[in-house]
Amino acid sequence: MKATIFGASGLLGKALMREWSGDDVLGLGSRDVDIRDPDKVREVVEQARPEWIVLAAAYTDVDGCESHPDLAFAVNRDGPVNVARAAKRIGAKLLFLSSDYVFDGKKTSPYETQDARNPQSVYGRSKAEAEVRLLDEVPECCIARTSWLFGTGGKCFPDTILKLAANRPALDVVNDQRGCPTYSVDLSRAIVELCRRNAGGIVHVNNAGDCTWFEFAREIVKGAGLATDVRPVSSQQMARPAPRPAYSVLSSKSLQQNGITMPTWQDALQRYLRERNTARG
Ligand SMILES: NC(=O)c1ccc[n+]([C@@H]2O[C@H](COP(=O)([O-])OP(=O)(O)OC[C@H]3O[C@@H](n4cnc5c(N)ncnc54)[C@H](OP(=O)(O)O)[C@@H]3O)[C@@H](O)[C@H]2O)c1
Repeated sequence: MKATIFGASGLLGKALMREWSGDDVLGLGSRDVDIRDPDKVREVVEQARPEWIVLAAAYTDVDGCESHPDLAFAVNRDGPVNVARAAKRIGAKLLFLSSDYVFDGKKTSPYETQDARNPQSVYGRSKAEAEVRLLDEVPECCIARTSWLFGTGGKCFPDTILKLAANRPALDVVNDQRGCPTYSVDLSRAIVELCRRNAGGIVHVNNAGDCTWFEFAREIVKGAGLATDVRPVSSQQMARPAPRPAYSVLSSKSLQQNGITMPTWQDALQRYLRERNTARG
């Protein structure tokens, strides 16, 4: 199989490039092609002629999106439309990475793929609008919604917690947002499998189980053998520019329907901590 990855220099993209073996995979970062440029996108896609395009490129600074909405919509909504049109021209299949932030977080049971989108932030809106536009452009495309991504090779929550915990006796972490941590390695393996199975439609892809950021941080600190005290606080006490959903647990039903099962986030965290230690030598 021939595949092209947009966003190959990001957290997920780096893991995808490592995990995707046995196929002819081309990875592109923003330096190779800016997805806001439709002509350049068409040129590289026509040159590469992949069977699958994985679109992991995005402006992922959720708080930055609030102060730069034009950039957020240009990269996260209009860029994907450029890629979808280029894919359509050569008959390539498309897998687009989306987010749990397309939901408002008002549910108290896991979000199913058909639940209504109601994003609360600019980032969430840009992703939700991209989903609608892509399903319109390429109805058979695959939209893989993921959440709380972590992994080596970039900024992520566990890395931040470990750096802070190494220098502080106590950490305050929000305990009123619940979601599903997702390890870039496990997400990459699931994406490759979805492509091999010719998946289409919306699929929720995250590690099994859920937690709050506080519970996640506590497990990170414990797993690293640190003595730092992790204290639960409310979102109000840690106000951020972009509102986050209080509950964004994604149901695993759609992934199971594609014959894929994900390890628990606790198992994923142990593997991440080992990978991080190895990477740091
Ligand atoms: N991180 C999360 O918690 C999370 C949660 C849910 C969904 N997602 C989604 O999962 C996907 C991967 O996320 P990630 O955390 O791996 O992102 P990331 O680490 O921020 O990487 C973003 C990637 O997009 C590229 N990019 C940014 N602007 C671009 C542009 N204008 N044209 C072309 N490429 C551009 C970057 O290239 P350069 O490195 O060259 O700038 C980089 O390769 C994204 O679609 C994201 O929205 C992430």
